[in-house]
Amino acid sequence: MGKPKVVLGVSGGIAAYKACELLRRLTESGHEVRVVPTAAALKFVGAPTWAALSGHPVSDEVWSDVYDVPHVRIGQSADLVVVAPATADLLAKAAHGLADDLLTNTLLTARCPVLFAPAMHTEMWEHPATQENVATLRRRGALVIEPAVGRLTGVDTGKGRLPDPGEIFEVCRRVVARGVDEPDLAGRHVVISAGGTREPLDPVRFLGNRSSGKQGYALARTAAARGARVTLLAANAELPDPAGVDVIRVGTAVQLREAVLKAAPEADALVMAAAVADFRPATYAGGKIKKQDGREPEPVALVRNPDILAEISAERARPGQVVVGFAAETDDVLTNGRAKLARKGCDLLVVNEVGERKTFGSEENEALVLGADGSETPVPYGPKEALADTVWDLVVARFG
Ligand SMILES: Cc1cc2nc3c(=O)[nH]c(=O)nc-3n(C[C@H](O)[C@H](O)[C@H](O)COP(=O)(O)O)c2cc1C
Repeated sequence: MGKPKVVLGVSGGIAAYKACELLRRLTESGHEVRVVPTAAALKFVGAPTWAALSGHPVSDEVWSDVYDVPHVRIGQSADLVVVAPATADLLAKAAHGLADDLLTNTLLTARCPVLFAPAMHTEMWEHPATQENVATLRRRGALVIEPAVGRLTGVDTGKGRLPDPGEIFEVCRRVVARGVDEPDLAGRHVVISAGGTREPLDPVRFLGNRSSGKQGYALARTAAARGARVTLLAANAELPDPAGVDVIRVGTAVQLREAVLKAAPEADALVMAAAVADFRPATYAGGKIKKQDGREPEPVALVRNPDILAEISAERARPGQVVVGFAAETDDVLTNGRAKLARKGCDLLVVNEVGERKTFGSEENEALVLGADGSETPVPYGPKEALADTVWDLVVARFG
């Protein structure tokens, strides 16, 4: 099998230079990339840069190499078309089927998955015209990832920033690997918790756990690549924000509960992958707890934390909402998992065995997904993204 063929469309936004990094990642990971910039994009980054980095000729119009009919061929033979950055103008043209340059012709001839990574000022993004164009493109099956929040051109900050090129690359990689052209979570809003809560004892110390957040982030990344609107509630995870995902940071179990309850009424599915502390110190010392000469330390009294999974399972914030829990067990994994599923009342429980070198912080996972309907889906040892995809397959099946 030859290398997957990717068309990298670049339109005329200030973030066009970041597409060079995306191009580099795509070529270095074994994709054959044809860059198709717009005329405006070439004002930001010149054709020689794209040609040298991609190893292919570069043109923005349909009148070069006409014997090869590139306005048709490039799109027809692609496995993925990704437009990054996608300007407001390009989104409008794509939504209306205009074809006045090579990129817009390519978008009309492509029969493969099409991904847009918009980037523009917040006002342009929020304008009803842009929002309607995005909705049209999504309705037709395109994957339009939400822009990130942050610094824009000049001194402004807000929503509209191009997500990190490394994270856009991750979405591209997922879409090419799955080879599906219909994002099956499109129109769905999913809420995911990730990481591990920290329960403070004093201003410098906390009770925590070893969760890195990688499984929750893999769930967020795969859901975004399958077209979902994703809210990621990240507890103390030090990982880059996945492209197209709204990341809300929390610290403690109580803060996580508040964030989950706030997000739940809009969620079609809630996947609780964070490791939530069962207990927290009963008191918080406002100043650092000091050693006392000749005296043993005071024991730390603990109180129970709220059981978020049981609460959202018992009182569904939306009819038909699917709730997924995670159980990290150190022994008797299956029995404990079954008991936990019954106790919590969720629809699916992902049970995995954890330990110092197992699961926490690693790139791989192995699990058994238990269903409230009695189903058991074993997921063999492999990347956390593979487990994430299995979870979404099971969630999609429950949406009916
Ligand atoms: C300095 C500068 C930065 C711009 N940045 C953006 C941007 O980030 N997003 C956007 O939608 N338009 C931006 N524009 C406006 C587009 O370049 C303009 O709409 C152009 O017609 C887009 O053409 P294209 O969609 O064919 O690439 C910018 C313009 C200038 C002069």
